[in-house]
Amino acid sequence: MLAINDLHVAYGQSEVLHGLNVSVAPNEIVAIMGRNGMGKTTLMKSLMGIVPTKSGSVTMDGAELGSLPSYDRVAKGLAYVPQGRMIFSTMTVKENIETGLVVSGGSEVPEDIYELFPVLLEMKGRRGGNLSGGQQQQLAIARALATKPKVLLLDEPTEGIQPSIIKEMARTLKRIRDERGLSIVVSEQVLSFALDIADRVLVIENGEIVRDDPRDSVDAAQISKFLSV
Ligand SMILES: Nc1ncnc2c1ncn2[C@@H]1O[C@H](COP(=O)(O)OP(=O)(O)O)[C@@H](O)[C@H]1O
Ligand SMILES: [Mg+2]
Repeated sequence: MLAINDLHVAYGQSEVLHGLNVSVAPNEIVAIMGRNGMGKTTLMKSLMGIVPTKSGSVTMDGAELGSLPSYDRVAKGLAYVPQGRMIFSTMTVKENIETGLVVSGGSEVPEDIYELFPVLLEMKGRRGGNLSGGQQQQLAIARALATKPKVLLLDEPTEGIQPSIIKEMARTLKRIRDERGLSIVVSEQVLSFALDIADRVLVIENGEIVRDDPRDSVDAAQISKFLSV
């Protein structure tokens, strides 16, 4: 579904991703674990075309994304829930979700989005900035789903979220995958969450993928070592 081949990304002279290779199958949930500063956000941004690629290729369904601008990538089926959620705080919940509809061509927020996130229906007239962290995360996911993606990218979705809400988020993301048949790539530092949802767990260390294990053969202690400072 999504294939990243020998991806190099740099900020000016400083290379941050040194030749990543990752492939994501249809319906698969892949977690990319790594400490702060290891390159998770840079990877997400380069996949979305927010940060330019130095070399290498990213394909979706075999089509090269190359130098496409972000909105073309969204139109091709990539959606992004950025770190920190980045919802529009002065816009209402409904308006936030509607920004995602521009791409899919709809005019009404599809009912199945409110079915996934009933609290957003209750709060659809509230300003985004007045929601709790967990509710804002639901809103950011809803906005991304409004573009009808084939691959959903989430950058540290559990950051700043309470443990009970994290459990619920894991259930919701699996439900989204099961019901919509999409692929999910999630960057994380919370191993329990990753083990809860992922089919495969990768570790990124200093801009390189150093582990790539199917869920069932994950050595949690090994991965924890990469996550501790
Ligand atoms: N806009 C930027 N300009 C220069 N360097 C950056 C920029 N953004 C991130 N970096 C550097 O790139 C590296 C990877 O950062 P990032 O992708 O944000 O890591 P993570 O998301 O895993 O915490 C870090 O060394 C960081 O300092
Ligand atoms: Mg980050």
